Amino acid sequence: MCGIVGYIGKRQALPIVIEGLKRLEYRGYDSAGVALWDGKKLQDERAAGRISVLEGNLQRKSWAGNLAIAHTRWATHGKPSEANAHPQSDCTKGIEVVHNGIIENHAELREALIREGHKFVSDTDTEVISHLIERAFLVNAKEKILLEHAVLDGLRHVTGTFGIAVISKHDPRKLVAARRGSPLILGIGKDEFMVSSDVSAIVEHTRKVVYLHDDELAVLTPQGYEILGFNKKTISKPLNTIDWDVVSAQKGGYPHFMKKEIFEGPETLENAFRGRLLEAGKGGLVKLGGIEEIKNKLLTVRRILVVACGTSYYAGLVGKYFFENFSRIPCSVEHASEFRYSNPVLEKNTLVIAISQSGETADTLEALRDAKKRGALAIGIVNVVGSTIARESDAGVYNHAGPEIGVASTKAFLSQLGVLALLAMLLGKEKEAVSEVMLQKFSAELKSLPVKIKKILAMDEKIRKLAEKYLKYDNFLFLGRKYQYPVALEGALKLKEISYKYAEGLAAGEMKHGPIALVDEDMPCIVLAPKDSVYEKMLSNIEEIKARGGKILAVATEGDERIAKLADDVIYIPHTMEEAAPFLSVVPLQLFAYHTSDLLGLDVDKPRNLAKSVTVE
Ligand code: F6R
Repeated sequence: MCGIVGYIGKRQALPIVIEGLKRLEYRGYDSAGVALWDGKKLQDERAAGRISVLEGNLQRKSWAGNLAIAHTRWATHGKPSEANAHPQSDCTKGIEVVHNGIIENHAELREALIREGHKFVSDTDTEVISHLIERAFLVNAKEKILLEHAVLDGLRHVTGTFGIAVISKHDPRKLVAARRGSPLILGIGKDEFMVSSDVSAIVEHTRKVVYLHDDELAVLTPQGYEILGFNKKTISKPLNTIDWDVVSAQKGGYPHFMKKEIFEGPETLENAFRGRLLEAGKGGLVKLGGIEEIKNKLLTVRRILVVACGTSYYAGLVGKYFFENFSRIPCSVEHASEFRYSNPVLEKNTLVIAISQSGETADTLEALRDAKKRGALAIGIVNVVGSTIARESDAGVYNHAGPEIGVASTKAFLSQLGVLALLAMLLGKEKEAVSEVMLQKFSAELKSLPVKIKKILAMDEKIRKLAEKYLKYDNFLFLGRKYQYPVALEGALKLKEISYKYAEGLAAGEMKHGPIALVDEDMPCIVLAPKDSVYEKMLSNIEEIKARGGKILAVATEGDERIAKLADDVIYIPHTMEEAAPFLSVVPLQLFAYHTSDLLGLDVDKPRNLAKSVTVE
């Protein structure tokens, strides 16, 4: 949830970690802080609010030094305040710790440490880690133990999740990082080393990285790095090269990441299909390298269970239609946050699919682990390469959507739909559950989608005008049926999370069972009504809403004049197959939400109370 960055090398550390923090700010942004070793002493600074506030505070003194750690926080324990910002230090301010995750037994540890005389100044769970490390130094004062050993000693007492970076005046020319359940990556440069919770803080300086796994600790010095297991044994790990460059992690001329990412939709789909959706006659129709080795097991699958959260969950709901339609395998989709607590019945031959853009969502990860424990075959559909869900799945398919920085997920949704469609086609073909003709038709349609999405993006100005027209309303209903029902849910989520307007997505057939009571002239309904098998039913919904004085903004297929007569406003999308329509209909809804938020002057990329990757329950 929060962001960590640390630097050790020959250059001035402060500008590097502050720049890194700015790239991580999307992970959490209610307070920030930095600690630096200036060659003689530790200095630190914290601030409530955005990183710009911290930068203002830093002007007050000099910050020369080649070793620093920094943090941007999204509060889990203790309100966002200067005292609760990280780094958190010990009693003598000799140890500085930045931490992502949650220390579950922090209350007991705090009590015990207070009984021993430690003084706490914050409400955070993190502060116990600094005091535990301090205690390790105190207890071993005679032996003069190393920082990494003091950290390991401290962490022995902790239960919960952590990704931490630590510096200390007791062993000052090194940076120690350790992880359990919260991502950490080492950046390996020439005579300089970095640690971060996310590659985006590192790519500007190096593309060589080492992924730290659970129960591993890294010791970084200006001369090199060493990785130890929590048993203190050295571990040798591969060096990976990341292929995202810093340009693709920046806005590229767009006013917001969200707009840039919506406009990257066509390219995102091309990337999801590249080398996977094959030309007819080239040895099968779909090739998914990541699941090649479990293909035989996939043939025995009798049931599919998708676990995911938020937008990824809605992609899963579209996936259910794909799987049941193309492969005739029954599929259910569950909120990962509920699945974990449900004591699920997973029959033999159940395939669990975890969908996650970040690959770090705590609920989805735990659902995946739980499913694996119960013996299910588990695959991941993940965007962030090397993320925990990607690593812990039995096999998986990467989205290749590139970094998604805007908190509201847009291009990742499209690529999730793309990968789900490919997977359903592959299963359908292998099980001979769908005709070759249908597969060829759908395949051709998928390939045409990038061009069709570009046509929708060209209507950006028109959609902005519509957003302006509807700006005065505070509440919205989004209605859809069949393939468009999950899109209605996703459209409502996009609007509420970035514009703070109340929006509810509904299966249109449910209107009569209650929600229609809400309809009046102040409750616009955004109705998804492309020409598909439930089109006539959607027209009936529109009639019912109009009869009650409701306003209709319809998303319909180009050339549809009947809708034009009934609805107050229409956004036309190109003609497509019913199965492919979610790829198109979601785009105007993303743009509508984007413009609504922008017109209201809100922080589109960093909506209040939210963070990009939810690594706590
Ligand atoms: C909404 C949004 C969230 C995420 C959810 C899951 O725009 O971004 O609802 O979809 O937090 O995140 P991932 O896909 O990273 O597991």
